[in-house]
Amino acid sequence: MVSPLLLLCFTLPLILLFFFQFRRTFKNPSLPPGPRGLPIIGNLHQLDNSILYLQLWQFSKKYGPLFSLQLGLRQAIVVSSPELAKEVLKDHDLVVRDRPKLIGQQKLSYNGLEIIFSPYGEFWREIRKICVVHLLSTRRVSGFSSIRKFEVKQTIEKISRHASSSKATNLNEVMMSLTSTLICRVAFGRRYEDEGTERSRFHGLLNECQAMWGTFFFSDYIPFLGWIDKFRGLHARLESTFKELDKFYQEVIDEHMNPNRKTPENEDIIDVLLQLKKKQRSFSVDLTNDHIKAVLMDMLVAGTDATAATIVGAMTALLKNPRVMKKVQEEIRTLGGKKDFVDEDDIEKFCYLKAVIKETLRLHLPAPLLAPRETNEACTIDGYEIPAKTIVYVNAWAIHRDPKAWKDPHEFIPERFLDSTIDFGGQDFELIPFGAGRRICPGRPTAIASLDLILANLLNSFDWELPVGMNREDIDTEVLPGLSQQRKNALCVLAKLRV
Ligand code: HEM
Repeated sequence: MVSPLLLLCFTLPLILLFFFQFRRTFKNPSLPPGPRGLPIIGNLHQLDNSILYLQLWQFSKKYGPLFSLQLGLRQAIVVSSPELAKEVLKDHDLVVRDRPKLIGQQKLSYNGLEIIFSPYGEFWREIRKICVVHLLSTRRVSGFSSIRKFEVKQTIEKISRHASSSKATNLNEVMMSLTSTLICRVAFGRRYEDEGTERSRFHGLLNECQAMWGTFFFSDYIPFLGWIDKFRGLHARLESTFKELDKFYQEVIDEHMNPNRKTPENEDIIDVLLQLKKKQRSFSVDLTNDHIKAVLMDMLVAGTDATAATIVGAMTALLKNPRVMKKVQEEIRTLGGKKDFVDEDDIEKFCYLKAVIKETLRLHLPAPLLAPRETNEACTIDGYEIPAKTIVYVNAWAIHRDPKAWKDPHEFIPERFLDSTIDFGGQDFELIPFGAGRRICPGRPTAIASLDLILANLLNSFDWELPVGMNREDIDTEVLPGLSQQRKNALCVLAKLRV
């Protein structure tokens, strides 16, 4: 006789298969159209994390600026026009305000005890406000200008040494090192020695954290296939990354709690959070070390990767467009008075440099799908009924190339911004590299101050060339999976000291 267990093993997959096929065939007819998927997995087999924005762009050409996807058992919609981005991020700001809860991101954010992955609510409002007031506001960012100047100068000296010995500079590595140093110094007053073991440990952790944020887990979309993640060793990898990061954050907290610590000139964000933790009642929740660690993760990962990726994006675009490179260098060198180092005051005069940065954030934005959102209740978008808990992707990469919004959308033409009021503050929905609405990136002033100073000095101090034998067309732009566009292959270039 066949055992009941054996019978179940054979029949259960068939029942599930028919159930999901049925659901798919008779799925909510008021959802936007979308590519047809397979039973159970839906459209997952058609998607690749590292080029998702490109694939979604292709789908939008066929199914329109609002289309549906079935990601395993999860419903998703994709928005690819400025008008619909406005509808989602502004008109429905209060509904499309959460983030999908994904295993890797939840684990590393201590289940959303921070800003990026925390659900919208009282705690999110408070913690975001604390970080803005003490670290990210325009006033605080100007207060950190001497740190920025010191660190950018150090990097320029490092590249000068490469230039003197005709050694190629790995721009990805150098920029990650610079942006992480900047954020470590302002967020928790620490500086890692160049090429020291502590720095490589720290960079290894940052890379692993970013990789885990972007790794695909079956458990997120088809929970009953979650065993495949275990089989692939993903849970073990996530756990070990979490433990290593937790140890690192604990060291930073211990340093701040050490009674023998030299009193710093300015309190950093860890000092502020530790004081709030002591007072307790000044916050809607009881702050714990886990909250502080989760906020540290936000600042380190969000503050480092995107800024470094944007500089590399700008240098790639300039190397591919020698006309623009020449024009922006002329502006900096002429208006900057041929100084060895251009200051933040000089940069205010560099309109073309500002246009180059905007054009970079249009075509090489580091988070092409922003940070995905999730609906917290059912709503109507563009006439379609979107259920609660639907994942919402805003394909900013596609919006930034929308031919209705941009002339010659694929060309790198900074001039388009010279006589235009379009800005990335979240009001002009054809340019949204920092998102929009209540969850717009709070790190904009920090990012822009760093981008301006770094790029101005890279272009002021050096002339840039590709290594011998490499052509402009050979510059590789393949990226790694993750929330921000880190390159698979680094951009290695020759810096020549300005004559
Ligand atoms: C070029 C640099 C940067 C870009 C392009 C960028 C882009 C973004 C985007 C697209 C989002 C999602 C917004 C949305 O959902 O509408 C975001 C969120 C966020 N960013 Fe940035 N970012 C950059 C730099 C920074 C920096 C330097 C920091 C902090 C030091 C930072 C901290 C954050 C935080 C905390 C959030 C979460 C906001 C929330 O969910 O309420 N970012 N960023």
